[in-house]
Order: sequence, then C-alpha cells, then structure tokens
Amino acid sequence: MKTKIVKINLKHPQISKISQAAVVIKTGNLVAIPTETVYGIGANALDAKAVKKIFKAKGRPLDNPLIIHISKFEEMDILVDKIPDSAKKLMKKFWPGPLTIVLKKSKTVPKITTGGLNTVAIRMPDNQIARQLIKESGVPIAAPSANISGKPSPTIAAHVKEDLYGKIPMIIDGGKTKIGIESTVIDLSGKTPILLRPGGVTLEQLEKSIGKIKVHSIKRKEGQNSVSRSPGMKYRHYSPKAKIILIKGPKNKANEKIKDLLAQFKKQGKKVGVLSTDKDWNFSREVMFIGKRFDEVASNLFQTFREFDSRKVEIILIHGIGQKGLGLGIMDRIEKAAVEKINV
Ligand code: TXA
Ligand code: MG
Repeated sequence: MKTKIVKINLKHPQISKISQAAVVIKTGNLVAIPTETVYGIGANALDAKAVKKIFKAKGRPLDNPLIIHISKFEEMDILVDKIPDSAKKLMKKFWPGPLTIVLKKSKTVPKITTGGLNTVAIRMPDNQIARQLIKESGVPIAAPSANISGKPSPTIAAHVKEDLYGKIPMIIDGGKTKIGIESTVIDLSGKTPILLRPGGVTLEQLEKSIGKIKVHSIKRKEGQNSVSRSPGMKYRHYSPKAKIILIKGPKNKANEKIKDLLAQFKKQGKKVGVLSTDKDWNFSREVMFIGKRFDEVASNLFQTFREFDSRKVEIILIHGIGQKGLGLGIMDRIEKAAVEKINV
C-alpha cells in the first residue's frame, strides 16, 4: 500500500488537507493523526470493517479495546445512553484534554471497537488537527496509539512512519505531540471510579474534582485468567528493543548504582545507554538527558527510547522519578517497559 504523508500546520490547519484526510476516514480507511498526547491511528469508530483494519495494521490483539475520539460534547449521545454526574464534571473540567472516560456503551458502538466489552472509552483531544478531522469526517474516530503493538507510542510523525509505512494510506504530520505519554484512563462505568491508566491529567487533579479514586493495580491481575478491567494493561508495553533496567531509590544511591552497572556492562562489551533527569551527569551519546521537569520527561521519554534503539543500544539504565503528579504516569510507562528493576 502506498502511504501518503500530509503535513498540516497545528496552529492553522489547512482545511483542504483536513478534507483530504476526512475522505479517507469516510471511505472506511485509516489515517494516522496527531493528538496532544501521542499519535493515533484512526478509523470511523462506528464502522466495524474500518475498525478491524486498525487491529490488523497494528498487530493488536482483538480483545484490546480502542479509545473513541470526539470533537463535540453532543457526540456522547451516540456513544452512551447515560452520562453519570461524575463524568459530566470531568468532561467539563478536562475536555478537550488528555483524559479518557470509560462508560457503559450504547448499542450503536460496534463490539469490535470496544474489544467485546459493554463499556466504551471516550476522549476529546486537545489538538486542532484531530478535532477538525473528526468534525469534517462527521463521525467519532476510534484511535489507539499509532505504533506497532508493544512498541513505544509515537510522539512525532517519523515514529509512525517507522512502524506503519506501507500499512496505512495516510499519515498526518502535525509536529511533535505536546504531552508525550498517553491519556489518563478513568473508569466511571461502575459505582467506584477507577484509575485504569495514569497520564496527562493527574490523579490529584481528578480527586480534587470527584473525590476518592481507586487506583487499578496491574500487578494483581497478572497471571489471572479473568478478563482484566482494562485489557490493554496485560500486554507488555512501550518497550524499545533494548533491555530496560530501572533503578529505584534515593538519587545519589541510584546514580552510584547506574555508574557501576554502566562500567560493568561496558566491560562485557555491551552497548549501554543511560537516561537521566539529573544534570550532574556528563551528557554524551551514551548518557541522554530527558529533562528536569516532569512535563519535559514525559514529552521526551518515548522519543529517547526510540533514539537508543536506532543507535542499537542493548541496555538502557534509568532511575526512578517518584509518583507525584505526572510522575505516576511516567513511572507507569517506565515500569511497564522495564525488564528488570533494582532497588538501592
Ligand atoms: O492518549 C491516548 O489515549 C492515545 C491517543 C491516540 O488518544 N491513545 C491510546 O490508545 O493510548 P491505546 O489504544 O494505545 O490505549 C487505550 C487504553 C488501553 O489500555 C485499553 O485497554 C484501554 O485504554 N481501554 C480502551 N477501552 C476500554 C474500555 N472500554 N474499558 C477499559 N479500558 C479500555
Ligand atoms: Mg497504545
């Protein structure tokens, strides 16, 4: 398949180009689109045949449900029968933005879109290109992250190209995504709100709006046969080819350990990379600075994973950063990508 790459200006999306992409969606085909979190691979959420193509292109297991993206609050009425008050509150406060809300689905949403579940995940992205494309297409757009299953989510169009060139008809290049990790997913389909995936909107922000939220722990679900609450969580995620070793503990001790390991692996002739938020390091091709503030770290994380892969790094050493605010989402991605964890 020939893949067309269309560059669109984020601040002033060119309407003719948006229309071109909308035709692809309307005819039941796939378009990779930028959002404020990561790039997504989109299809008409209400067209089962089109949605099936997403699973095929990504190599995604069919029981892993997709997020449906909308551009107007009214579109909720097609997707769900009822919106609980807690959801209304969060929609008003955080949409458009990096928050996905899981609710009981309406009959209109095809089962393939929700991975066979009777709930549906919905968000309104804070990205002009994405929202205008949804408007112009006239349908809600189902979109998982635009990576091959298991690889880090794409934060620039070049990553999408790396994974999906030749597999989908169109990629929109809208520049680097702002946040860099995927949206927060909250389940409001039952009595208790449950945080399924930490992300751009923090747990603290959510609890301020609707009170106590239960945090879904992936570890308890692992190895069980029951259908997990968020099926996507049971799969290994965000992983570069390199083996990631996460070192947790006080900063000084973690740095000492990383220096030891670095020397040790180099002695063995291994190609090692270090990802650090600590400016005290001597940064080089071997040691990469991912940013000091959490928003910088989030925005650079997946890109640096891919960067190390392209340099054929075999082992990546990275230290923990704590779980406050955006840290919870960042650590979730690192923990899921890590093959080994060391506490110092
Ligand atoms: O930021 C994002 O959310 C990006 C952009 C493109 O919007 N999308 C994204 O989609 O990360 P994906 O498919 O890579 O991750 C969706 C997550 C998965 O963990 C999936 O299992 C969960 O949301 N999910 C989707 N529908 C669900 C549902 N009905 N119930 C529980 N979890 C659901
Ligand atoms: Mg994904």
